[in-house]
Amino acid sequence: MRRMFFFISFCVFVVIVSLFYFGNPLAPYLALVFIPLFVLGLFDMVQTRHAVKRNFPVIGHFRYILEAIRPEIQQYFVESNTDGAPINRNDRSLVYQRSKQELQSQPFGTQQNVYEVGRDWVCHSIYPVKVDDHFDRVTFGGPHCKQPYSASRLNISAMSYGSLSKNAVSALNLGARLGGFAQNTGEGGISEFHRLGGDIIWQLGTGYFGARQANGMFCPETFKEKSHWPEIKMIELKLSQGAKPGKGGMLPGAKVTQEIATIRGVEIGKDVISPAGHPMFSDAKGLMNFIGQLRELSGGKPVGFKLCVGKHQEFFDIIEAMKQTGIQPDFITVDGSEGGTGAAPLEFANSVGMPIKDGLAFVSQTLEKENLKKDIRIIASGKSLTGFDMIRLFALGADTVNSARGMMLALGCIQALRCHSNHCPVGITTNNPQLVAGLHVPTKSERIANYHKETLKAVKDLLSAMGKTGPEKVGRSDIYQRQPDGSCQTFAQIYT
Ligand SMILES: Cc1cc2nc3c(=O)[nH]c(=O)nc-3n(C[C@H](O)[C@H](O)[C@H](O)COP(=O)(O)O)c2cc1C
Repeated sequence: MRRMFFFISFCVFVVIVSLFYFGNPLAPYLALVFIPLFVLGLFDMVQTRHAVKRNFPVIGHFRYILEAIRPEIQQYFVESNTDGAPINRNDRSLVYQRSKQELQSQPFGTQQNVYEVGRDWVCHSIYPVKVDDHFDRVTFGGPHCKQPYSASRLNISAMSYGSLSKNAVSALNLGARLGGFAQNTGEGGISEFHRLGGDIIWQLGTGYFGARQANGMFCPETFKEKSHWPEIKMIELKLSQGAKPGKGGMLPGAKVTQEIATIRGVEIGKDVISPAGHPMFSDAKGLMNFIGQLRELSGGKPVGFKLCVGKHQEFFDIIEAMKQTGIQPDFITVDGSEGGTGAAPLEFANSVGMPIKDGLAFVSQTLEKENLKKDIRIIASGKSLTGFDMIRLFALGADTVNSARGMMLALGCIQALRCHSNHCPVGITTNNPQLVAGLHVPTKSERIANYHKETLKAVKDLLSAMGKTGPEKVGRSDIYQRQPDGSCQTFAQIYT
């Protein structure tokens, strides 16, 4: 190809010189195109990073151009309605329709293969019932909690300011205010954009951002002061998240602006480390004591922890520690390995942690067995987008459901898969001011509230069709799943 490059260049050179010689007006334009391409080709041949460009000067660039627009080609021309990943077109469209309150019905029947192995469906009843008016709320707060919280059955999952833009966080918070539900701050601290009137759940990760000392340890005084803010309804201690359990993180100093430094309680311009584990405790008893301390400092607000299930024994140890210390969390958030993230190493996203159905069934059955389920609420998250997704999680023991990517889609996410690059084209996961400006906060906050309302309406319709008066009446025997041998079994038979 290199010889070919020189041969073609020589031919074009001869043509251009001849055109100049005969005074053809096209000659300067051709020269203008040819010279940069020739220089580019020479550069390609001497550079050492890309073999394709060295061997195929100039035309090798097409490979990189096509690779850059691969996600768009895949999404707009290749993927079917049911196979897009991580979230398929059918589910994305449903969220868009619900958030815009457009027609949501499906024409001509299901596009799914109803005999596919692993497919789940609910059993309906011949005797539909009227669902309780208050089916959409549940109270959080065990025996030691002094300020119980009446939560919506559907809330916004943890996403930090920083991984989301200021307009995205603001629209989520205003949407939560409009719809009467809660937004989880994520582990990046509480920003001014979280404080626009919506209920918030303050998440503390291993960096204790917003309540930390200079050495990275937890700061009780700052926590006490902020946790008393009236919009903070609950506190969530993050042990792990499904997309990257057991992985710490580092925010490079260049990204630690004055604003981020103030929100997180760190030094401007210095790298900020989030360790993989919590510096404040190293065993189950320590975790329970820390939860007790958080509850005390917050004036008795509900306190819980979030995890993606890993080693079963560690969860049994936590139960044992509850008995020994007499301290219980008010809630446990179970996240599935199918959960979303702004950025995670591939090995962690693909190969670490338990998927939500297995993790949730394990946690809820363990709490039931220990007679703790009555006091400890379970929040579940992991690709829950539709009313059916929520019902399935209720069947496995969830009391409420958190959605991160469903809410992002309602904000206008087009699944461009650019969250980790700061180039999100719709201004959600970027802090580029030009891109952020495209996200119109009042419009998007309404869409968040619409998506929440319409999804709960779908839940209500499904409950009625199942003959259930509320989510707490849905059990494992209400969901069937297709088995590899062609038979169907209920979750009660599968998750024993
Ligand atoms: C952009 C983004 C940022 C996130 N940030 C956090 C975080 O700060 N803390 C956390 O516990 N989970 C975080 N998550 C995980 C979500 O809270 C949630 O557990 C997970 O995405 C599963 O929900 P989903 O399938 O509805 O997206 C993040 C997810 C996304 C997509």
